[in-house]
This record gives sequence, structure tokens and C-alpha cells, in this order.
Amino acid sequence: MSDRARRALVFGASGQIGAALLARLRAAGWQVDAVSRTPPGDGGEPGLRWHRGGFPDVEPPSPDCDAVFSCGPLDRFSLWYAAARLQAPRAVAFGSTSLATKAGAEDAGERALAATLREAEARVFEAARERGAQATLLRPTLVYGAARDANLSRIAAIAQRSGGFVLPRDATGLRQPVHVDDLAQAALAAAQAPAAGGRAYALPGGETLPYDQMVERVLAALPRRPRLWRVPAPLFRTALAAAHAAGRLRGLPAGAVARLREDLVFDAGPARADLGYAPRPFRPTARMLLADAGPAPP
Ligand SMILES: NC(=O)c1ccc[n+]([C@@H]2O[C@H](COP(=O)([O-])OP(=O)(O)OC[C@H]3O[C@@H](n4cnc5c(N)ncnc54)[C@H](OP(=O)(O)O)[C@@H]3O)[C@@H](O)[C@H]2O)c1
Repeated sequence: MSDRARRALVFGASGQIGAALLARLRAAGWQVDAVSRTPPGDGGEPGLRWHRGGFPDVEPPSPDCDAVFSCGPLDRFSLWYAAARLQAPRAVAFGSTSLATKAGAEDAGERALAATLREAEARVFEAARERGAQATLLRPTLVYGAARDANLSRIAAIAQRSGGFVLPRDATGLRQPVHVDDLAQAALAAAQAPAAGGRAYALPGGETLPYDQMVERVLAALPRRPRLWRVPAPLFRTALAAAHAAGRLRGLPAGAVARLREDLVFDAGPARADLGYAPRPFRPTARMLLADAGPAPP
């Protein structure tokens, strides 16, 4: 293999997973072209160039690279990648385990999301095959670690503000929260692992625990040590229905509450075998959860 630096094109580089991937790529000596609709600063740093652009009409800054990574919306990337004039022997794209967990959901919007993810994955594989490239799809579970996710960071912010968080007593479905940096490591490995071409991997976190225990650990990591209140499930659902009727809690489909009881568990075995995937156990800190948690300890 030549000793020139490998070159990566990264979409979604400003996102929580994308930022972790940028750091990993640069630490491994890759030259990175990162694309954003609103790039930070005006240029880049050694080994990193930012480019302004977004799907569907962004032009690749160079017609070839060693790997293209997608850490943004998979459906948009898949359409772009299928049409782009880009030669890259490897493509690594993040999808979601929602493809499986929401396929049979009550909510039509959630079922549509699962179908969209499935079609987008198929489009990426097909587009790679047509150009003689190898694609790998990565499906994370519940992502945390960058203090800006829509799940645990949101719970942390509410609890930190109000002093507590309420769950129904049956919120005991199993979860596998996964840290952004473990995902970044898997993406980097996927771009280089011979066995990863043409494959999709679930990327769960390194620990499986009930939803309420996961939330307990989040609260225990916060400076105010908010309390977790468990209320009878019927009472919780009645209160939630009332909040919905009053026009609050928009964007929280009924299925999301029903899923608190469901186990959403995936096997890390294939990713472990092919990518050396070794996700950390769930030990959240305030800095992983809250954007204003202060600087890292010395
Ligand atoms: N968060 C989770 O719990 C979770 C779980 C499973 C799977 N995933 C998947 O993992 C991937 C990354 O998730 P994330 O949470 O890291 O995302 P995120 O923090 O929300 O970042 C999304 C990125 O997508 C880019 N983007 C959005 N619309 C775009 C467009 N039209 N054209 C180009 N770029 C666009 C944004 O870049 P700019 O704004 O800079 O353009 C942003 O950097 C996604 O595919 C997501 O579905 C996430």
C-alpha cells in the first residue's frame, strides 16, 4: 500500500457522530474533506478542509477519495451517492436500528421511517455495486456522549432544570445506549476491514439495561442529582393523553411510550468479529449529557 495519506469525504461532519469521526480520522492521519451547509470558521485546520454544501446538489470537492462517510440523513445521502460523480472504493453510511424497531410500529410515520431507511440502505448497496465499490451500513442503537442527542441529553436537561424525571413503572424495556466515539471507531474500522464490504451491522452499546435503570444512571451523573419518580403506568398514560390533547408534547408518538416496555436489543457479535467493535459499558458523565456541564477535569 502507498504511504500517501488516505483521503476521506465526510457528510454530516458537524453532527454528534460526525464530529467524533472527524477526530478519529485526523488522529489516524487521514486527510479529510468535510461538508456542511454551515461550515464552522472559514477554512480548516491541518488535515481538514470544510466545504459549504448540502444534499441534493453538493459537488464532491474532488472526484475521488479513499472513502466516503455519511453521518447525516441516510435517505438524502443515498440519492446523492447514486447520482454523484465520485470514485471511492469504500462507502460507510450510518442508518439506524429504527429500520427494524419501527417496521411494525402503530404510528404510520414511524413505519414510513423504517421503510425509508430500508430503501436507502438498498440504494447505497446498489450504487456501490454499480461503481465497483464496497459499501458498509452501520445501524446504531440509542446514541449519547456528545451532550446533544435527542434522547438522553434531553432527559438530562429536563431533569436538571426541574429537579426530577417521571417514568411509568413499566418502563423496563431493555436498551443499549452507545457512545458516539465507539460509533466513530466502528466507522473508521468499516472503511478498512476487508470483511465489511456489502454488509450492514447493528452497533449497540456495550451494556444492556432496563430503560428505567438507564435513566437512573443519567440522573445520578447530573450535578443536581435529580430524582426519578416512578408512577403507575395507567396514571402516566392518562397524564400523557391529557398533555397531548392540550397540544403539548408534539412530536412524541404514542408508539414511543409503548416502546418503553419493549426490549430493543441487538447483537454486537458480527461487528465485533469483522470490525473489532468493543463498545464501552454505559457510564455517563455530566459532560456527556449536558452542553453546559463545564470544562473537563484537569
Ligand atoms: N442520534 C441517534 O440516537 C441516532 C440513532 C441511530 C442512528 N442515528 C443516525 O446516525 C446518523 C448521524 O446521527 P447524528 O445524531 O450524529 O446526527 P446529527 O447530530 O443530527 O447531525 C446530522 C448531520 O447531518 C447533516 N445534514 C442534515 N441535513 C443535511 C442535508 N440536507 N445535506 C447535508 N447534510 C445534512 C448536518 O450537517 P449540517 O447541518 O452541518 O449541514 C448534521 O451534521 C444519522 O443517519 C442518524 O439517523 C442516530
